[in-house]
Amino acid sequence: MKHVVSIEDLDKKSIMSLLKRASELLPVAKGKKKSDKLKGKILSTCFFEPSTRTRLSFESAMQRLGGSCIGFADPSATSHLKGETLSDAIRMVSGYSDAVVLRHPREGAAMLASEVSDVPIINGGDGAGQHPTQTLLDLFTIKEEIGKLENLKVGMLGDLRYGRTVHSLSQALDRFNTKLYFISPESLAMPDHVTDELTNDWSTHQDLESVLGELDVLYVTRIQKERFPDVEDYKRVAGAYRINSELLNGAKPKMRILHPLPRVDEISTDVDNTKHAAYFRQAFNGIPVRMALLEKLIGGK
Ligand code: CP
Repeated sequence: MKHVVSIEDLDKKSIMSLLKRASELLPVAKGKKKSDKLKGKILSTCFFEPSTRTRLSFESAMQRLGGSCIGFADPSATSHLKGETLSDAIRMVSGYSDAVVLRHPREGAAMLASEVSDVPIINGGDGAGQHPTQTLLDLFTIKEEIGKLENLKVGMLGDLRYGRTVHSLSQALDRFNTKLYFISPESLAMPDHVTDELTNDWSTHQDLESVLGELDVLYVTRIQKERFPDVEDYKRVAGAYRINSELLNGAKPKMRILHPLPRVDEISTDVDNTKHAAYFRQAFNGIPVRMALLEKLIGGK
């Protein structure tokens, strides 16, 4: 494993090994135990798009392991504004650090970066493409919450067209014999390039209520306003789904709701205190999972 551009870069054995290590690292992630596994190592976080969880949890993970971080969250404060290409920028940054986390609005940006970088490139989200480390923490959360990954029924709801997290997660869950329910407005359906690769059973739906009672996990996504070429198209689907605690009366008692966050209005705050809400624990899980990945990529033996 050198770069992590797509979840396809990790086989099932590597994924399970990372999740096991993430579990062992929980006390370090919570600050209850110390580690200097990455002492002297530097992580670059290059974020050409906004982020709260991905950037800060990577930085927390690195620092909890004794390493340090450099980087930017605002590309307009970098030479990007003077017209520097992504390739040139990554060539420089890869010389300044031991690994680079890149978030970029353009699909394929992380792949391009991996072709010019001497150090591991970790895709922190490339346009509507992939978000592989989100997938690792999603899998970790499902395993923690449900107790297993195999043979589950997982619904994915919302913006399945532009939501990169559901692209990566569908590919990953397909290795665990998962039945997938894709629930979205027709215009935001899961792209063919994802469904064509699935080997297990999957189905498409426009309404949640008809399948809610079957699900072990409901993975909710925000409608990605920033990815719509025409804002009028966004307005036609905005607010298509709103989950509230009353609706969840139709769910299995152990069903868990995940969301990569941020949410806008697709999950009402009255869901937050129900037994179904796992999304804030999911966001925390970004730290142990990213610690495990950083150890694997740059921690040596
Ligand atoms: N889940 C996620 O990628 O969140 P951020 O956009 O805040 O990083």
